[in-house]
Amino acid sequence: MKVISGSANKDLAEKVAKELGISLSPVEIFIFPDGERRIQIKESVLDQDVLIVQPASPPVDTNYFELFFLADAAQRSGARTISAVIPYLGYQRQDHIFRDGEAVSLDVVVKTLQSVGINKVIAFDLHTIKIVEEFSIPMSHLSALPIFAEYIESHNWAGLDTVLVSPDKGGIRRIKLISQMLSDMPYAVIEKNRDVNTGHIEMAGITGEVTHRALIVDDMISSGKTIVKAAELLSQNGAEEIYVFATHAIFSDEAPQILEDSSVTKVYVSDTVLVPESKKFPKLEILSIAPHIAKEVSIGVV
Ligand code: R5P
Repeated sequence: MKVISGSANKDLAEKVAKELGISLSPVEIFIFPDGERRIQIKESVLDQDVLIVQPASPPVDTNYFELFFLADAAQRSGARTISAVIPYLGYQRQDHIFRDGEAVSLDVVVKTLQSVGINKVIAFDLHTIKIVEEFSIPMSHLSALPIFAEYIESHNWAGLDTVLVSPDKGGIRRIKLISQMLSDMPYAVIEKNRDVNTGHIEMAGITGEVTHRALIVDDMISSGKTIVKAAELLSQNGAEEIYVFATHAIFSDEAPQILEDSSVTKVYVSDTVLVPESKKFPKLEILSIAPHIAKEVSIGVV
């Protein structure tokens, strides 16, 4: 097997390769002055199972194109199979038409992934499980929830003074799953309304009892506004310690600063997306998904 990486999250690719007991295969990514990329896999992948690690995190389009080119290079070089580990699947929130005249961007992405020789996709914590059905090639939908549950358990937080919280109704399935992993830890669900035109978020209320310690679980943090508003609501309802567990640290705009300045005690994210040093903040801790990818790959590539 060969593991190759684009430039989106080489740290994760190196960890995955290490877990598999191999080194990353070298890739040259040359960027022309106009921004175009020329990609070359620098060792033979002939008759090999190739694993490409490349989250479609910001810059989303650039990272997707690198992935398309890496897959094309692997295919043209005679790879036996090509699996794409796309820990964060960009455009996953644009999976249907919200308003007349819109594109279904995810559909375009899926069609392109399938046309460049990729045989299998591995992704983490998709926004909805229906996204799996968009693919006609095998897709493994993995989750960082077991990592978060293990971490919560190791802190002995399972008890009457702790509640899991979904910051919106769309996260009900997720919160039920992690609750089951934690011996049916109680959970609460916030009613969040987001204006589709302005992006303005309003927290309309909460169903379930808020206790001393609240553990917010979400799939991603982008602007950070969902988490900050949810934490405000939880504080107003009596929570004194608020921990956040979110798989994808997209951290756009001022997210790191507003999270650091918020009433949140600590923010745990996974490394599906590389968090650059400039976006790290004191309340942040990163937990790795690399062992889960390696395990999935070991039990059956394609
Ligand atoms: C929304 O449905 C998602 O689960 C996340 O809560 C949301 O995408 C987070 O976005 P932001 O950090 O911009 O509020």
